[in-house]
Amino acid sequence: MDKYIITGGHRLSGRVRVHGAKNAVLPIMAASVLAGDRCRIYDCPNLSDVAHTIKILECLGCRVTFSESILEIDSSDISSWEIPEELMREMRSSIIFLGALAGKMGRARMCSPGGCELGNRPIDLHLKALRELGLVIKEENGFIEANAERMHSGDIHLSFPSVGATENIILASVCLNGETTIFNAAKEPEIVDMCEFLNKMGAKIEGAGTEFIRITGVAHLSGTEHKIMPDRIVAATLMCGAMTTKSEIELLNVRSAHLGAVVSVLRDSGAKIEFFKDKMYIRAPERTGSVDMIKTQVYPGFPTDAQSPVMAALCFGGGTSVIVENIFDSRYKIIPELKKMGADILQDGRVAIIKGQKLSGAHVRAMDLRGGAALTVAALGAEGVSEISGIHYIERGYVDLDKMFSALGADIKKTN
Ligand code: EPZ
Repeated sequence: MDKYIITGGHRLSGRVRVHGAKNAVLPIMAASVLAGDRCRIYDCPNLSDVAHTIKILECLGCRVTFSESILEIDSSDISSWEIPEELMREMRSSIIFLGALAGKMGRARMCSPGGCELGNRPIDLHLKALRELGLVIKEENGFIEANAERMHSGDIHLSFPSVGATENIILASVCLNGETTIFNAAKEPEIVDMCEFLNKMGAKIEGAGTEFIRITGVAHLSGTEHKIMPDRIVAATLMCGAMTTKSEIELLNVRSAHLGAVVSVLRDSGAKIEFFKDKMYIRAPERTGSVDMIKTQVYPGFPTDAQSPVMAALCFGGGTSVIVENIFDSRYKIIPELKKMGADILQDGRVAIIKGQKLSGAHVRAMDLRGGAALTVAALGAEGVSEISGIHYIERGYVDLDKMFSALGADIKKTN
């Protein structure tokens, strides 16, 4: 299996471009089946999750080409509403096809996504909302069968602003007669990007990015073109790489509005951060300061996906920082791996207490996507050589993270 070999302690410098957002392109790829036409997507990141979703689209009868970050999806001849079990099990976020297939084909069949490395990943909010819209969903033997014959528009009140559930409701209702309103909708920027894509296809969606989203059903959607928003978590990860190596770097293709909570925390720990249009300059302090309390929350609060890379940065700081992970129930698998590098972290349930230390290189293993990215930024700042295995997790959400950092002067190699 591939691994990273990193010799830490090198200061970084220069500039690097942030690629398109994984969590925007995945729902947009699902949304493309609603076009029954050709869609062209620019700045599509070449990730394993994208490759996986392309396989799903092809199984459904879509024709897909992908080169030079341009993804073309032709769903004119979509013929199936069933996702093969092995593809569904690989990536739980494929549940987003439930709403899209119900909306386009009137039917859907897939296996239940089950859990993942972040722990139990329930879909009760998705199923409850779609059933309230009249989707008949049978769950048996680990499979979900859905029939949309009796679907209707209506008001949906989410008990929690789930990103995926919000996306599924929108995808299922864009072509339903009448108005569907989502109360307590998720406000993440990736939902806004998906809705911009759908509106360019002819949908009528208002309020994306707020807690009230109104979808007025239309009879027909058609193909369009769209450029994927920058990946705010990749940007946050690169910023944390600057922090652990005490560097000054420039990021291209960022949106300051998407990074507010992360910027606030890193400024509290001593970073100088400035934005100029779609560029950012970050200069790390010689000694990273502690941060009293970071609580992960739904957008625009501190993003759970940036929690692990920021934890790695705080390991190098002076003083004591506290993190509370409120979104996922097992996003601390990275702690024992950071401890192998000398980190001083106490965990009690959702709370992690980090005392700044010097870290040393070690052999560590990535257990999930953002944990793997965090180990990478920790190794860049640690003294000596680190070996990170399990980097297939990292490649789900980062295009050539090793090359991004080596372009900034890091000593990082990918081997198998
Ligand atoms: C999306 O996951 C992202 N994934 C996640 O990014 C991100 O961490 C998360 O939103 C929060 O921002 C994609 O967009 C592909 P949720 P999603 O539904 O939709 C619970 C990454 O690293 N919940 O908002 O699954 C759930 O268990 C990934 O890029 C229910 O209880 O997030 C979790 O505790 C990781 N029932 C919380 O809500 C449900 O029906 C947030 O889940 C649905 C969710």
